[in-house]
Amino acid sequence: MIFVKSEEEIALMREPARIVRDCLSFVGTHIRAGMTTKEVDALVYDFIKASGAEPSCLGYCGYPASACVSVNEVVVHGIPDERALEEGDIVSVDLCAYKNGFHGDGARTFCIGDVGPEKEKLVRVTEECFFKGIEGLRAGVPLYDIGARVQAHAEANGFSVIRAYTGHGIGREMHEDPSVPNFGRKGTGVRLPANAVICVEPMIAAGTWRVKVLSDGWTAVTQDRRPAAHYENTLVIRESGVEILTL
Ligand code: MF3
Ligand code: CO
Repeated sequence: MIFVKSEEEIALMREPARIVRDCLSFVGTHIRAGMTTKEVDALVYDFIKASGAEPSCLGYCGYPASACVSVNEVVVHGIPDERALEEGDIVSVDLCAYKNGFHGDGARTFCIGDVGPEKEKLVRVTEECFFKGIEGLRAGVPLYDIGARVQAHAEANGFSVIRAYTGHGIGREMHEDPSVPNFGRKGTGVRLPANAVICVEPMIAAGTWRVKVLSDGWTAVTQDRRPAAHYENTLVIRESGVEILTL
């Protein structure tokens, strides 16, 4: 069941969402070669705590960190560890903050120095996929229009759409209905109601969309080990468009 939020609830959601936005930009200004993914996670933990929020990911289904830090072939749910970032890496940082009884959720993919033309294009196209995905989005639009638009843009650029993970509704729970796939057929799916709050999060791969989860139970890598990128925002469906809360 898709929860429709009241204006009061949406007002409460703005705060965790802004903390996510600010935390992602804070990470963007500090992330650099030589930093370990655990150090990235520490930045996130400290920032969220200092903002008076809780890192929703920490302990979620046993997840051991505040952020997912996914390097190169890791698509999502990379567990922070002692791995040091290197020039040429692309690093997706995905994080959630909980405050006022609500969650905010967002992700960016950062380039460490010069990453070369293929990764650079992948990161750019993944971000573009988000904005293509929400083009024309407003109350009454069928859910799978989002995925159809994301998929068309990714595939037109020679990339593929990860199938195993999707966007989602968000609110008092980090994951609520509906599931928001990044693929699908235009004109199908439930019509999104005004004041639904969802996360649109294209996960795009340079090669195959097939993934494998490593033995830690979390880390999802592309089966061909080619790179993948991720870009996510939390947004409200409005009568006349969308209101992006994490930008
Ligand atoms: N933030 C992720 C999402 O977009 C969820 C992370 S899974 C967790 O849905 F275990 F890290 F919390
Ligand atoms: Co999400």
